[in-house]
Amino acid sequence: MPKGFTLWFTGLSASGKTTLAERVRDILLERGMKVEVLDGDVVRQNLSKGLGFSKEDRDINIRRIGFVCSLLTRNDVVAIGAAISPYKAIRDENRKLIGRFVEVYCKCDLETLKQRDPKGLYQKAIDGEIENFTGVSDPYEPPDNPEVVVDTANEDIDTCVGRIIATLEQLTYIPAGDGRGYSDDEEESIKQRLRDLGYI
Ligand code: ADX
Repeated sequence: MPKGFTLWFTGLSASGKTTLAERVRDILLERGMKVEVLDGDVVRQNLSKGLGFSKEDRDINIRRIGFVCSLLTRNDVVAIGAAISPYKAIRDENRKLIGRFVEVYCKCDLETLKQRDPKGLYQKAIDGEIENFTGVSDPYEPPDNPEVVVDTANEDIDTCVGRIIATLEQLTYIPAGDGRGYSDDEEESIKQRLRDLGYI
C-alpha cells in the first residue's frame, strides 16, 4: 500500500499557501509521516534560481516542483507543493504524472490580498513597478475540481487545516487521527465533495 502522495496548494500570492502548507506539514510530522514542503519562494532560491515570471518560466518552475513531488511521492514521502501555479494545464500535468495528487485551492479575494500585502508587492504591481504580477497584471486560472477549497479571507486557519486533514483522512491517504477538528456537517460536506469527484 503506497504511503506517499502530493498535496498541492495553488492560489495567489499571500493567499495562505505557505502558512497552511507548514501547518499541515507539522500535523503530519507529529503523526510520524515523512513530509517535505516545496515552497515557491524557497524553490526559486535554489532549484529554480534564475527563473522569472514569464509564462514559460513559471511553467518550468511548476514542472520542476511537480517532478520532485513525483519522486518523493513514489518513495512514500508526503510532498507538499506551495506555489502560485497559475496555469491549470501544468497543474493537471503534475496531477497526471503523480497520480496520488490532492489539490487545495487557496481562494481569497483581491481586496483582502491587497490589504494583507505582506511583501508590499500588490502595491508595487498596482503602481506599475512590478510587471506581470499574478492577479493584477498576469493571469490566474482557478482549478475546476480541486479536492479542497479553502476561503482564507473568510475561514480561520484551523478551519482550513481541519478540512484539509479531514479530506486526506477520508481519502485514506492518512490514518484517522484522534482529535476531530471538524463537525458532523463539515464531515458530510467533505464526503459529498469526494463523492462528486468520484473518489468514494
Ligand atoms: S509561480 O507562478 O511560478 O507558481 P511562485 O509561487 O514560484 O510563482 O512565486 C511567487 C512568489 O514570487 C510570490 O509570492 C512573490 O513573493 C514573488 N513574485 C515576484 N514577482 C512576482 C510576479 N510577477 N507574480 C507573482 N509573484 C511574484
